[in-house]
Order: sequence, then structure tokens, then C-alpha cells
Amino acid sequence: MSEKKTFYITTPIYYPSDKLHIGHTYCTVATDAIARYKRLCGYDVLFLTGTDEHGQKIEDKAKEAGVTPKAFVDGIVEGPRGVKDLWKLMNISNDRFIRTTDEYHVKAIQRVFRRMYENGDIYKGEYRGKYCKPCESFWTESQLKDGKCPDCGRPVEDASEEAYFFRASKYADRVRDLLENTDFLEPRSRVNEMVNNFIKPGLEDLCVSRTSFSWGIPVDFDDKHVVYVWLDALFNYITALGYENDQYGDYKRYWPGVNIVGKEIVRFHSIYWPAFLMSLGEPLPTKVYGHGWLVMDGGKMSKSKGNVVDPYILAERFGVDALRFFLLRTFPFGSDGAFSNELLINTINVDLANDLGNLVSRTTAMIEKYFGGTLPKTGAAESVDGELLAAAKSLRGRYEAQMEKFQLHLGLDEVFKTIQRANKYIDETAPWVLAKDESQRDRLAAVLYNLLETVRICAVLLTPFIPESCEKIFAQIGAEESARTWDSAAQWGVLPDGVTVRKGEAIFPRIDAEKELAELEALREAAKKGASPIELEPYAEERVDFDTFCKSDFRAVKVKACDAVKKSEKLLRFTLDDGSGTDRQILSGIHKFYEPEQLVGKTLLAIVNLPPRKMMGLESNGMLISAIHYEGGEEKLNLVMLDDKIPAGAKMC
Ligand code: MSP
Repeated sequence: MSEKKTFYITTPIYYPSDKLHIGHTYCTVATDAIARYKRLCGYDVLFLTGTDEHGQKIEDKAKEAGVTPKAFVDGIVEGPRGVKDLWKLMNISNDRFIRTTDEYHVKAIQRVFRRMYENGDIYKGEYRGKYCKPCESFWTESQLKDGKCPDCGRPVEDASEEAYFFRASKYADRVRDLLENTDFLEPRSRVNEMVNNFIKPGLEDLCVSRTSFSWGIPVDFDDKHVVYVWLDALFNYITALGYENDQYGDYKRYWPGVNIVGKEIVRFHSIYWPAFLMSLGEPLPTKVYGHGWLVMDGGKMSKSKGNVVDPYILAERFGVDALRFFLLRTFPFGSDGAFSNELLINTINVDLANDLGNLVSRTTAMIEKYFGGTLPKTGAAESVDGELLAAAKSLRGRYEAQMEKFQLHLGLDEVFKTIQRANKYIDETAPWVLAKDESQRDRLAAVLYNLLETVRICAVLLTPFIPESCEKIFAQIGAEESARTWDSAAQWGVLPDGVTVRKGEAIFPRIDAEKELAELEALREAAKKGASPIELEPYAEERVDFDTFCKSDFRAVKVKACDAVKKSEKLLRFTLDDGSGTDRQILSGIHKFYEPEQLVGKTLLAIVNLPPRKMMGLESNGMLISAIHYEGGEEKLNLVMLDDKIPAGAKMC
């Protein structure tokens, strides 16, 4: 038996700095459809996705949330409605999921960095430049657009630090040759931009370490530096196969593969990524494909612009397959596309409910009605069949030609042209007229068989896009496993004589557009209002007299030690210097908001003359003062932190 050919495909690894939105879903669903298509064709496929968890942006977000960076990313990746949950919901068939905080990846990156240092491609220098914090990118003056970051349009700041550099300049000619003279980067329209903007002006060496923050992979021979997040991230595509680590052992088997990425990160993938690999003498990706953006209200979706669309809401309302289908049918994969709810509902109603849904339900309903569900042996062909049969028989070839170029919308277009042809064939042959004439039973059976076979072939080819719905279609038309294969999609007459159909519920019910749009609009309004309204505790009605207030003894306290109380999820135990010369112990139920190590050394505010209280067997003498508010219904707590100049024990009044 010959070994199956391998195919390796990846999505970008997403930043878990916020919940993912429909833009990320778009890329992952597209990559999933390609992976499923290749499996259908018989390849041994490995499909990788994951998360890019280091860098200053994540460190800042975690600080804002009052948790450690690891706890922060854990919540977004593994937590409810997090990244992994979203991919499960969307029926994503990834074989692996990499997190750049995974131990094996961290160790592998340290080895890679050291190897490039030892071969002279990484050297120490000083960095001065313009830095875009949200993109984690340094830019030269000439690369800025109107003085702003050319990727995201946000302001940049001057930055300078001691840093390690990668000798990208050494590889400029080889990278240029790769871009211009091979089809490494697609769509080809992206090549000129890369060459003209980044290579022709002189490819500068890339700064690949940072000292200004610590949430990254330490350079193991100089640990005041952490590895630049893009070097760390790009290598995920091979560390996840076992490159420079023992976690997996299939680097040789699957690499090189295809990297699917959004257009804004084509620069990293088509210039620096191949240069890094050249430095190590490793094979380059077979292809980098830069897809377009889903835009809304004229701009790329982003949490900060408040124009993101929640894939959970859409999948719950319309179904996972309908959402997957819409994303890939509507927007040409290499270009930008404007998302709207109208377009979504229209695509579901026209393509799925009318064209595909109706074809399946009319065909199975007629077979039930006229033949009790089981088609007799047929044979009566007529010339009117010619066009439909020709379209169905040649469909796989036309579809394959588009899919191989990742022109997913055009692959779908071929299938839907055939579906429309079949619906027209129903009108042309008018089975309900044939059914009235007993002498036409043979012909009636032939017409219905032709429809059933067309449905079968279309369903095989739609499987990568709408896998669950195709299962339902196969069950309804009586297609066994052998009638669902890639080979069978190029054959006519696979369903046997005497095939039995089972009419089921409508696979794609029609949507009441007006009602749905009104409801979605109401949700959007509510989300806007509830997006980040700050809610406060109600103000107290009752007044306290001044003397009573003055009895409260508020003091500055310094945290000498802080640890989590065993067997308690909430409690932290503080050992405090209150200026009296004796340590004070206070327990506080704030573990949800802070990790103990964040608080050691801080100057806090406490009320110290409350009666002692026992909690979990420990005594608490006082209470730390916090500020509390609510955002989107969620409690936010911030300890009141005082200037460290204030000595322990200073009284607040
Ligand atoms: N972490 C980097 C990628 C490192 S890969 C070695 C990153 N992450 S990201 O979370 O910002 O995700 C970027 C990718 O998500 C884009 O390249 C694109 O594939 C997808 N999209 C994010 N927003 C999108 C749209 N609005 N439209 C289409 N795709 C979008 O960059």
C-alpha cells in the first residue's frame, strides 16, 4: 500500500488579549475548509491553530485586569466561551493547538535563538525607532503612514533599548527572489507591496529582543532580554511539529506546509519568516496565503473601535453551518469583504434555504410521494437530461481547480451553479405531470434518480464547508459511506437501484429577515449600551455624624508578605507593617482580583480598629480598603494604593 501524501496547514496563532471575533473565525473556518477538503481528497492532513501569548500588550492587559499574564491568557484560551470553546462550537477540525507558553515551545525558542546567535545571524546592538505598542512592531520613519503605524494607523512612540538584532539584510536578495520568482506568496497582488515597501528601500536588520517588559521567553544566555514576540510566534509552525523539542516527532513528516494569514501580517510571514528559516537552513513554507479582512462600518473589526461581531451570537441564532457557509461563500478569500447582517440572512435564504434546501426536500418528497420512498430501477433517459448530467459529472474537476488555488468562494460557486441547474431541471421535466401518467413511471423514476445523484455529488463537495448538514443530506438521500467519498464525486450512478430516501426536517429553514434584523439590531444596541458602562454602588441614604466617622482609624500599611490561604479560593493573608513595630495580620477576600506576588511591597490603606474576626481559623485585624465598581455587570475591585513615600502607620484623616 502506498503511503498517503501529507498536507500541513496552519492559521495564525491569535493574540488572547480579548475574546476572538468574527474576523478570527473567518480565517479559522477557511483554513478548516481547506484542511477538510484535503482530507476528503485523501491526504494525511495535519491542521494546526493556537494562541500567541507573550508580549507587552498581554502584560498590560493582565495588569489592567489585576491578574498574572498567565492567569489572564488561561481565562481567554481555556475559559468559558474562550478560544478553544469557539473552535469547538464552529466544528473546527484542528489536530493540534499550540500555546506559545507551552513549555516545549519555550525551550525550543531558546534553542533557536541561541543557534542564530552562534551562527552570527543574531548580534547585540542598540535599537532606536518608532514603536507601535498594539502591533508590537518597530518601524522606521520612512515606513510610517502619515506619521502613524502603517498596519493599524495608530500613533507610534520613540523607543530605544539595548537589543539583539537579526541580520535580515543578509537575506534580502534571496527573499526578493523568492517573492518575485516563485508563487510562495499568494495572492500575487501582495508581492509588489512587499518588495516595493520593504525590500527595495533596503531591508533593515530586525530587532529581536526586548528589555522594557518581562512577559516573554527569556534569552537563556542573557536573561534581561526576552525574545521578540514575532520571532517567538512565527516558529510555532514548526515547534508544534517537534522542531527543537521532543513533544512531537513529525517535523520531517509534515514540514514544509501552508501558512494561511491575514493580509496585515503578510510582511512578517513573507519576509522575516523565510529569512529566519534560511538562517537555520530549514525548508521554507510551501506557501503563505494572505487573505483579506472582514470590515464593518468601513474599517477592520477591532475591540477598541467597538465594531466587532460576536460569532457566538450568530452561530446560536442561525446555526454553525449557516455561519461557516456565509463566510466562505460571500467573500472572495483574497479580498476584503463588508460584513452585514442583511447579507448573512440573504445568503442563508437564497443559497441554503431556497437553492440547496429546496432541491433536497423537493427531490426526497417526490420520491416518497410517487414511489413510497424507494426508487425502482430506472433507465429511461431523454435529451433534456444531457445538460444536467454533463454539469454534475464535470463538477468535481471544476471545483478541484478552484479549491487547489484556495479560491473557496469559486469552488462553492461551481457547486451552486449545478444546484441551480438541477432546480431548473425540475421545472423542465415537471415530475408532477409525469406522475399523472402511468406509462411515464420509468421516466419519472429516471428524473428523480438524476436529481438524487446530483444532490449526492454536490453534498460530497460541500462537506468541507458544511459538514454536519451534509451528513443529514446523506442520511436523507440514502447515501452510504462509499457514496460520500472523493472518488464517488467523479462518478455518475453510484446510488444503487432501489435506493431508499428518508425525508427529514428542513435542513436550512427560511429566516424571517425583517424580524431577525430587528432583533439583531436590538442586541447590538443593548451591547453598545452594556459594552462598558461603569456601574456604581448606590450612594448611601443615611448620614453618619462627624464624630462617629472620626472614630474610624485609617492607616497606611506596607505589605511585608502576602500568601493565599489554603483551601480558600478567595482569601489572601497579608502580613503588614502598620508602623507600630508589631506585624499586623489582615485577611482579605480578593484573590480573584490579585495574585499575592503582585502586592508585596505596596503601600495600602486599612481600617485598623475593627474588632478582630476569625476566617478559616486565622485572625484578621482590620480591613484593606478597595474601590469597587461594575463593568458590563461584572464586579471590578482595585485596592486603594498609596504613594510609597507615605510611611507605615500614617493616619488618614
Ligand atoms: N498573533 C499574531 C499572529 C502571529 S502568527 C505567527 C496576530 N494575532 S491576531 O489575533 O491579531 O490575529 C490576526 C489574524 O486574525 C489575522 O491575520 C486574520 O487572519 C484574522 N483576523 C483578525 N481580524 C480580522 C478581520 N477583521 N477580518 C479577517 N481576518 C481577521 O496577528
